[in-house]
Amino acid sequence: MQRTKALILSGGKGTRLRPFTYTFTKQLIPVANRPILYFVIDDILQAGIEDIGVIIAPETGEEVRRVLAEYTFDNKKIDFNFILQEKPLGLAHAVKIAQDFLGKSPFVMFLGDNLIEDGISSYVDKFFSEELDALIFLKEVEDPTRFGVAVLDECGNVKKLVEKPKNPPSNLALVGVYIFSEKIHDAIKLIKPSWRGELEITDAIDTMVSKGNFVKAQVLEGWWLDTGKKDDILEANRIVLDEKIKREILGENLHSKIIGRVQIAKTARIERSEIRGPAVIGGEAVIIDSFIGPYTSIGDRCYIEKSEIEHSVVLEESKIFGVGRIDASLIGRRAYISKEEELVKAYRFFIGDDAQVEVC
Ligand code: G1P
Repeated sequence: MQRTKALILSGGKGTRLRPFTYTFTKQLIPVANRPILYFVIDDILQAGIEDIGVIIAPETGEEVRRVLAEYTFDNKKIDFNFILQEKPLGLAHAVKIAQDFLGKSPFVMFLGDNLIEDGISSYVDKFFSEELDALIFLKEVEDPTRFGVAVLDECGNVKKLVEKPKNPPSNLALVGVYIFSEKIHDAIKLIKPSWRGELEITDAIDTMVSKGNFVKAQVLEGWWLDTGKKDDILEANRIVLDEKIKREILGENLHSKIIGRVQIAKTARIERSEIRGPAVIGGEAVIIDSFIGPYTSIGDRCYIEKSEIEHSVVLEESKIFGVGRIDASLIGRRAYISKEEELVKAYRFFIGDDAQVEVC
């Protein structure tokens, strides 16, 4: 039998996360101070798959390479095969250009901005034990028009799939994780670009169904996060902090109160502040006279003084000074926020890298 491979998609334009995605790809946005892509790779390696291809885009590919060069699993570096997709022409197009890498192997395709609770090991086993041609994952959602949508028959077999339907035939959305046999390549040869100009993987799987290939669906019980928008990232950050963070205070604590499950990197410094978990504080971060509330991740080399931050993600090297209270915010790299007078009660931010906000 051919060895199972994995194909991770880390290209695309990420339009719903602009301005962040002008400067870097959405799959690299961190939750709990780790790029989302790292959690995807954890799942793949935990399923015993080490042959991993990564689809990258021309604008952001170099940064993905750089960040993945720092990834380790059990203290081991991992080699990735990078495949350049010149234009975002769809998920099925990504599979097409990865064909040299994939060969005839079965493979897991994982969208690099999707997180699932359960991991994939048991599903890879199911794919092989039931000798499937495709195993897709579904989750009930409130607004199916944002996703690919599946229709199942009474026995749970896949009858039909449609991409982003205006009138959804069900509330079962396609999760961005798929397991395929080599038959997917024949189906991709038969499809045409959709109305959005993309070769849709949804159409290719629908073609497999109509050709009589053995396609099964698994409705996920655990959570699924598609981190394509700000609130999804905050929610992913909340869940990951909640589930994965253990108390570990390595940094310098000067007259501060650190409550609950808080992780503070060795080179961080906390002065006259309160940190209430679950929360993480990155390396060389400095927090002075501030309150960092639950569900907050503060990136490396951030400087925070006289501010309160809750339920937020602050990326590396941002400076926040004198701001009363920030909540439900995603703050880009090297952002600078300051406030001089006590005029406003609360702020809510969604600003990108290098942005500067001064409330005077
Ligand atoms: C893609 C797929 C869609 C799936 C979604 C999950 O959508 O085309 O079927 O439901 O990922 O994240 P896109 O991110 O391209 O809008």
